[in-house]
Amino acid sequence: MQEINASIGFDRKLWRQDIRGSRAHAAMLASIGLLDKQELGAIETGLDTIAREIEAGRFPFSDDLEDIHMNIEARLTERIGEAGKRLHTARSRNDQVATDFRLWVRDAIDGIGAQIGDLMAVLATRAAQHAADPMPGFTHLQTAQPVTFGHHLLAYVEMLARDRARLADCRARLNECPLGSAALAGTSFPIDRDATAAALGFDRPTANSLDAVSDRDFALEFLGAAAISAMHLSRFAEEIVIWCSAPYRFIRLSDAFTTGSSIMPQKRNPDAAELVRAKTGRVTGALVSLLTVMKGLPLAYAKDMQEDKEPVFEAVTAWTLALAATAGMARDLTPDTARMREMAGSGFATATDLADWLVRVLRLPFREAHHVTGRLVAMAEAKGVDLAGLSLAEMQTVLAGITQDVFDVLTVDASVASRTSYGGTAPANVAAQAARWLKALA
Ligand code: ARG
Repeated sequence: MQEINASIGFDRKLWRQDIRGSRAHAAMLASIGLLDKQELGAIETGLDTIAREIEAGRFPFSDDLEDIHMNIEARLTERIGEAGKRLHTARSRNDQVATDFRLWVRDAIDGIGAQIGDLMAVLATRAAQHAADPMPGFTHLQTAQPVTFGHHLLAYVEMLARDRARLADCRARLNECPLGSAALAGTSFPIDRDATAAALGFDRPTANSLDAVSDRDFALEFLGAAAISAMHLSRFAEEIVIWCSAPYRFIRLSDAFTTGSSIMPQKRNPDAAELVRAKTGRVTGALVSLLTVMKGLPLAYAKDMQEDKEPVFEAVTAWTLALAATAGMARDLTPDTARMREMAGSGFATATDLADWLVRVLRLPFREAHHVTGRLVAMAEAKGVDLAGLSLAEMQTVLAGITQDVFDVLTVDASVASRTSYGGTAPANVAAQAARWLKALA
């Protein structure tokens, strides 16, 4: 029973929040005359001492006492006697754990939000450096049209901004205080829930005691945001893996983020990127795990809900590490701009530019321009050259009206420079977007 029942092995992580909650509760009890001045003083000093003991690793955690709430309360009573026994007036572990866990998730949101901001700043800085460096843009992982490396990096800044906004939304909904809901029905004591809510930095007390002790939406929403964000990090990690591979050679990672092979001396494996990709499994798993724990529970509290913490703790560890490793790699990577430029021009990447030129200059309908371009690509392919490698005379055998000017749009630089539509990849756009982000993040 003890082994399956005790949560102290993992919920000791909540000790700071538990002490914060108890201080707010004690102060409120004193304000309504349920504790006298001496009792409140003894509780406050006792909790301070306990915090120091835990911080120093000297606290005698005990499995017999089941969880962090009973461990701290028992220790308090051991140290200060009678007053310690009065602390649990008008509360239950049900509202206590709901409060502690909300505080913990809120702290995690603040830390991770800042970390996402750091990663965005690193990516925006790199994007500003490479606003004009072309690389192949892909769809279906087939060369599609040239883009700039800066544009590609800023795509991730946009994703991360949404990840951060999801956390902010989650924080706003989470920020109601369950304390005072007691076991499930509220309490007969004349407690001041506005005071405890304010003392703990919540916007207001929760409005329904049954909901307050049995709601774990805040944790689920947090894990949903985590899963989406981890998925974004995993996509970037996957690109890093592809870009570092020998056939691509778009970027190099230093020894700081790669490992050697024990048998093949030439290898530099992008292990950090692979592990960022893999950590996503834990985060998504945590979300599915808690959804599954919650789905069959009748109101109000059930012990099942003790299983809410480990998935959240594990997700935070994995997410934090993935963010840190990604920021490290984004700082560390050296793009091979010459190689990317060369590849940006391969695979007939400027075929769309040719078709657009036929529309713009020769007034061909786009469908016809598409067809003419297709024939020119086939001709170039047969001759083993790219589009700019065809002579004007050869092009004119497909369409007599083509003029020398067409060659101006076939270069990679002309292609990216022409994509000036809002949100497009033109270097001027990319530089402006990078500057906008850097300013917003400063
Ligand atoms: N350790 C418990 C948890 O994490 C605290 C709440 C216990 N409540 C109860 N009614 N047994 O959920």
